[in-house]
Amino acid sequence: MFQPDLLKDKVIVVTGGGTGLGRSMGERFLQLGARLAIAGRRAEVLQASADEMMAACGGEVFAIPCDIRDPEAVAGAFSAIWEHYGAIDALVNNAAGNFASPTERLSHRAVDAVLSIVLHGTFYCTLELGKRWIAAGRGGRMLNIVTTYAWTGSGYVVPSAAAKAGVLAMTRSLAVEWARYGITMNAIAPGPFPTPGAWERLLPDPRLAQAALNRVPLKRVGEHLELANLAAYLLADGSSYINGECVTIDGGEWLHGAGQFSFLENLTSEQWDAFAARSRQAGK
Ligand code: HXC
Ligand code: NAP
Repeated sequence: MFQPDLLKDKVIVVTGGGTGLGRSMGERFLQLGARLAIAGRRAEVLQASADEMMAACGGEVFAIPCDIRDPEAVAGAFSAIWEHYGAIDALVNNAAGNFASPTERLSHRAVDAVLSIVLHGTFYCTLELGKRWIAAGRGGRMLNIVTTYAWTGSGYVVPSAAAKAGVLAMTRSLAVEWARYGITMNAIAPGPFPTPGAWERLLPDPRLAQAALNRVPLKRVGEHLELANLAAYLLADGSSYINGECVTIDGGEWLHGAGQFSFLENLTSEQWDAFAARSRQAGK
């Protein structure tokens, strides 16, 4: 799909890059020539992933343990990455926390657990790197991983929905405000892409996973490579006029949920015959 040197020598930071979609994006960036830094809380998970990613894809992965909820830790991590590579070209704000629960069961600490990672942590990383780029008189690319319920909202994941909506608002706001510094900011809204982190917390039962799948018009979940290719495209030089956009990659899932008559897909051919006869009659 791409020239093998699409991201050659670009230094890309991926938060939550040791697992799931963050790792899959990182591997694709490495294959396309990027130099990678991955951040996450668990040092052992991060280093093991970095070693496996380098063995599988070549290139360099700098693993930097960092809790993005801590602004001082975030500052230290970006200093270390900048020092290690001499610059940073792009940031993927991918780290997140989430779980499904009736909202009335949540404590204020449960709300904070999600908001502090998704909204505050994403903001701290964005601010830290943005300030560094502005001070250095150079631009860069930022990409925020949100969800489709950032704009529809969703019951049972309300702190995540509120936090992702905030990240989407930040994306659109800073795309405009920081364009003058040569900084672009876009987002990706994925539909269902199986990862242990998301599935164990949100769809722990195969029947739930099947129910989620049935919502997708394409009747399949996303492949990590499909999302990783979209992320690579949005960080490549050739897409630098895209700014403030949120690209959905969900097999049509959210529109299917929103479309008032999507439920008619369950009618049989015979039922459609009867339906058509009645609706034609109504016009006479
Ligand atoms: C209700 C819960 C809960 C649950 C935790 N809490 N899990 N409440 N239901 N399932 C409450 C705890 O009881 C506690 O409140 C408070 O939340 C903090 O819990 P901790 O375990 O101390 O939090 P912490 O160690 O900070 O962990 C954060 C986390 C955890 C978000 C709770 O799940 C995490 O580390 N997640 C990171 C990875 C992740 O979530 N990946 C999935 C991303 S998928 P009390 O009052 O008891 O002290 C995604 C979108 C997917 O974002 C969309 C799919 C289509
Ligand atoms: P995941 O593997 O659980 O990824 C979450 C990552 O965030 C982990 O690597 C985790 O590492 C890191 N993280 C969490 N809290 C952190 C903190 N305080 N500081 C630093 N890192 C932290 O889940 P995923 O499915 O790949 O999700 C990746 C992104 O895609 C998220 O933004 C999610 O909302 C989004 N998304 C996923 C789906 C899907 O279907 N999978 C759909 C829509 C959107 P540590 O625990 O080691 O810190």
